[in-house]
Amino acid sequence: MTDLDQLKTDALTRIENAPDAAALEALRIEFLGKQGSISGLMKTLGKMSPEERQVQGPLLNGLRTETTDAIAARKAVLEDAELEARLATESLDLTLPAPAAPRGSVHPVSQVMDELAEIFADLGFSVATGPEIEDDWHNFTALNMAETHPARAMHDTFYFPDFDSDGRRMLLRTHTSPVQIRAMVDQGAPLRIIAPGRVYRSDSDATHTPMFHQIEGLVIDRDIHLGHLKWTLETFLKAFFERDDIVLRLRPSYFPFTEPSVEVDVGWQDVKGRRVLGGDGDAPGHGWMELLGSGMVNRRVIEMAGLDPDEWQGFAFGVGVDRLAMLKYGMDDLRAFFDGDQRWLDHYGFSAFDQPTLSAGVGASA
Ligand code: DAH
Repeated sequence: MTDLDQLKTDALTRIENAPDAAALEALRIEFLGKQGSISGLMKTLGKMSPEERQVQGPLLNGLRTETTDAIAARKAVLEDAELEARLATESLDLTLPAPAAPRGSVHPVSQVMDELAEIFADLGFSVATGPEIEDDWHNFTALNMAETHPARAMHDTFYFPDFDSDGRRMLLRTHTSPVQIRAMVDQGAPLRIIAPGRVYRSDSDATHTPMFHQIEGLVIDRDIHLGHLKWTLETFLKAFFERDDIVLRLRPSYFPFTEPSVEVDVGWQDVKGRRVLGGDGDAPGHGWMELLGSGMVNRRVIEMAGLDPDEWQGFAFGVGVDRLAMLKYGMDDLRAFFDGDQRWLDHYGFSAFDQPTLSAGVGASA
């Protein structure tokens, strides 16, 4: 046996018996790596005489090819064996429950806005929107709020240094009422809209946050009177709180944009130490809670929005969405609404699949 035959037998036997991928790789390096024994022999070809090279060249090339092929073949065998072993030990239990996918939840503010949109849609109202960055004409002037009105003060309202192209001062809207003006100007009369959205005031404590949510309502038509306002609010509050015993008390009040203006209180009763809405507030152990502002739209506002107040009149109301959510779902700290604490959202949030509908109950909970 020549040295070459010996080397070949040795290489092929050891490759054939390599127990695993790492051992096989070590053999590949030993024989075919840069410093490998077969590679070393290949290098000697250059120093041989042409005659000798003619004999040795094919032999060495053959050795290299056979070794390479043997390594590839062994590698395939080892990989197959590894797969077989895995398949033999691993099992898939198709009856196991699927891993829970992380689920988000609908914030109570969004849920309540959806409920309100649903209730008012049934009453023939559409949803209108306006910009959160408003100008002082829509936010104050067109709503009949005089230059001297305290709400205009720097310490109540967030102003921008900028003015729009009409020279109006820009600000973060302090209420959703400017959407009344925009809706009248854009859509004309008759009109039935609600306008939910964010509003901003320079205020911060347990029951006030610098940003909060309101929903505005506006009806403009011919021959609209306070009776329509009272019926609409009563119907809305009964549907929203899902109670037929909601009792309203209308108190005379003042808002520049309504005349007459009414503050609406709702009767509550004490149920195990908690104030629950419902019942006559004057009954023993009961009381009244202020809930929203409203009134007949001031004719100056109708006029400023470009409509004829002798032909058109209507009513408007504004109510805090966060407050409605707190009353209905029993949260007591407004700040928690905007902390973004996952635990609070897990507890108070709603499933995206709980679409509020009047027929299925607007308050379907998670
Ligand atoms: N805009 C008022 C506020 O933010 C609320 C309000 C009162 C709106 C009476 C109305 C209304 O539409 O008629 O305090």
